[in-house]
Amino acid sequence: MKTNKKLIPGNFRCNFVKLSDIILITFLLLTQAFVFSQNASDNKCLECHKRTVKKHILHGPVADDCTSCHKPTGKKHPLEDVEGFAFLEEGANLCFTCHDQEKNAIINNKYVHKPVSRGECTECHEVHSSNDSKLIFTKSPDLCYFCHDKIENAIEKSTVVHLPATEVDGCIGCHSPHSSPQKKLLVSKPKELCLSCHDKTLTKGDRQITNIGKLLEESKVVHPALKKSCNACHDPHASNNKYLLTIAYPLGNYAKGTEENYELCFGCHDTDLLLLKRTKYATEFRNGDLNLHYVHVNKEKGRTCNNCHSVHGSSRDHLIPETVKFGNWDMPLVYKSFEDGGSCKGCHEERRYTR
Ligand code: HEC
Ligand code: HEC
Ligand code: HEC
Ligand code: HEC
Ligand code: HEC
Ligand code: HEC
Ligand code: HEC
Ligand code: HEC
Ligand code: HEC
Ligand code: HEC
Ligand code: HEC
Repeated sequence: MKTNKKLIPGNFRCNFVKLSDIILITFLLLTQAFVFSQNASDNKCLECHKRTVKKHILHGPVADDCTSCHKPTGKKHPLEDVEGFAFLEEGANLCFTCHDQEKNAIINNKYVHKPVSRGECTECHEVHSSNDSKLIFTKSPDLCYFCHDKIENAIEKSTVVHLPATEVDGCIGCHSPHSSPQKKLLVSKPKELCLSCHDKTLTKGDRQITNIGKLLEESKVVHPALKKSCNACHDPHASNNKYLLTIAYPLGNYAKGTEENYELCFGCHDTDLLLLKRTKYATEFRNGDLNLHYVHVNKEKGRTCNNCHSVHGSSRDHLIPETVKFGNWDMPLVYKSFEDGGSCKGCHEERRYTR
């Protein structure tokens, strides 16, 4: 298989680095024109089909032989309404006549991207010439937006946008364009994918974003909600809620203690934890049968979950944090866990609960 790398300007550059740019560019233009005219005279097809080689990176076989893909039908060409050529193979099979080595990586995975399984390689790839070395029409995210306008709309209209989803090649940083052993074409296991960037402190404007990897490593208790993935609570692309949360969740110290306000949690936890004043089963946070979740949370100006739980992980039992933020003050929360209950000192003097 021959490559056409000699036609790519970048490859000339290595040999002539010492020439001034202007001379170089003139030289390149002349050489390219020369090479094309050489081809054009060898290749009768280009007399009429110059458009196929218009862009500066040619697809390997295009430079040499149009009939490596277009098989003459024997009919006169060109002739209106008469097909002068047929394809050597149809759809993706045409591509795999040469790209046999890549075939496995492209289609032999558990999850295959629809346009790939349909053999629609040319929805994303230009077959003749391209401005992109991977012969794609344009880079992601724009390439993906040809078909995924829902995601484009979400990213355009949302108040909070995840930076990697908007960057050039961002989509393919998380998704394979062809296929993957992971659901949703992810390039790695979902939690590992998030932690591949969130294993360091990041910044957004002048805000520091917690190093979640380190936090989880140092936690004694990790919330089982994020055992496999982070998607239960975060949208990986964009959201109208702070922190890319899939559902709004009150983060200050106080909020109305309703079921709706804590929907993010009640997707997995039972609402009885909040709604029943007296219970023997709905929660372990109780004094006898008095539900202390109810006491603290279920009122007009209820305490938010955030006061007593760190959602990702904590050095303490039951995801209890070491400090609680009140404005700029980090209030220490002294929590002790006992066999039959626990106690806290912070908002109040030490108070104990016994089940
Ligand atoms: C004299 C001009 C001319 C030459 C030379 C020529 N073509 Fe064409 N070709 C045309 C025209 C005109 C059409 C019809 C364009 C259209 O329908 O848009 C066409 C259509 C095609 C098509 C699509 C329809 C079909 O017939 O299958 C293919 C593929 C094609 N040409 C390949 C080639 C190849 C390969 C060569 C060289 C072996 C070649 N052409 C040489 C003028 C030419
Ligand atoms: C790697 C395989 C391959 C090679 C080599 C190739 N083509 Fe094509 N060609 C295709 C495919 C596939 C299509 C259909 C494109 C589509 O569906 O978007 C096509 C479509 C065309 C068409 C019709 C549509 C159009 O884009 O105008 C013409 C004309 C054409 N080719 C001419 C040529 C000429 C001339 C050459 C050589 C300079 C050539 N092709 C080399 C694969 C190839
Ligand atoms: C006749 C052989 C042949 C056919 C058929 C063919 N290709 Fe290629 N393709 C090549 C060659 C040769 C190269 C250049 C490889 C290189 O530079 O290492 C190439 C390069 C590519 C590249 C850039 C690869 C890279 O590694 O950067 C892509 C993408 C590509 N082809 C896609 C396709 C698609 C899609 C089809 C089917 C529509 C197709 N090819 C059909 C021979 C072919
Ligand atoms: C949804 C768009 C899309 C479709 C459909 C698609 N590709 Fe690609 N392809 C890409 C992108 C994007 C890249 C560049 C990946 C990168 O830069 O890592 C690529 C890269 C390639 C490469 C270069 C080697 C590699 O894996 O990086 C080949 C070869 C290739 N594609 C062949 C195909 C073939 C054959 C088909 C059809 C079976 C196909 N592609 C369908 C988007 C697509
Ligand atoms: C030619 C149209 C097309 C393009 C371009 C395209 N996709 Fe898709 N994609 C689809 C279709 C069709 C589906 C299946 C949707 C469905 O079943 O609801 C899909 C599904 C997906 C899925 C979900 C897969 C699953 O298992 O549920 C992901 C992720 C995805 N695409 C990512 C991308 C990315 C990233 C790009 C850009 C590199 C891209 N797509 C470009 C057509 C396209
Ligand atoms: C930070 C990593 C990341 C980036 C960047 C990213 N995605 Fe995703 N995407 C995901 C994850 C994780 C999922 C799975 C969500 C789930 O299962 O709920 C997903 C799901 C999808 C789906 C399937 C949606 C569905 O409802 O099934 C599509 C389509 C998709 N992404 C396209 C894109 C496009 C297009 C881009 C670029 C604009 C992009 N993604 C950028 C991580 C990412
Ligand atoms: C390629 C690197 C990368 C990957 C992978 C990645 N992130 Fe991010 N994430 C960032 C960067 C950079 C920021 C800060 C800049 C921004 O979003 O504007 C960020 C910010 C965030 C934020 C805070 C957003 C805010 O506005 O408060 C959350 C939440 C987040 N990411 C969750 C995730 C989840 C969940 C995943 C896995 C699906 C993930 N990230 C994967 C790079 C990444
Ligand atoms: C049970 C829901 C939930 C799960 C699952 C979850 N998060 Fe969060 N995440 C939140 C909430 C709520 C916030 C808002 C700030 C806070 O309470 O720490 C947040 C905030 C963040 C932030 C921003 C932190 C900052 O300092 O601005 C990042 C980054 C983040 N999460 C990443 C992740 C990653 C990575 C995962 C998976 C390993 C994950 N989250 C899983 C609920 C969750
Ligand atoms: C994706 C499902 C899921 C979501 C969403 C979720 N959790 Fe959990 N959570 C679990 C599972 C599973 C457990 C372990 C079983 C149990 O204790 O119910 C757990 C346990 C807990 C525990 C007890 C931890 C311990 O070690 O005793 C707390 C506290 C908790 N979750 C708080 C929250 C809060 C606050 C929210 C909302 C921000 C939330 N959870 C959202 C799945 C979830
Ligand atoms: C005033 C502090 C406080 C607040 C506010 C609070 N919790 Fe808890 N929660 C606890 C304590 C303490 C435990 C551990 C009880 C034990 O096992 O001894 C706990 C346990 C849990 C558990 C484990 C199962 C159970 O009920 O024993 C879940 C789930 C939970 N809380 C969810 C939430 C949610 C959701 C919110 C907000 C709606 C919330 N908590 C608000 C203190 C609090
Ligand atoms: C954000 C402040 C705040 C935090 C944090 C807090 N509490 Fe309270 N707690 C209160 C207030 C205020 C009351 C008084 C009842 C009321 O006004 O709702 C109270 C009441 C109590 C009561 C008495 C309930 C009754 O009516 O008999 C107990 C027991 C208690 N808290 C235990 C705890 C435990 C254990 C923790 C730690 C896991 C804790 N509290 C964390 C604010 C807090």
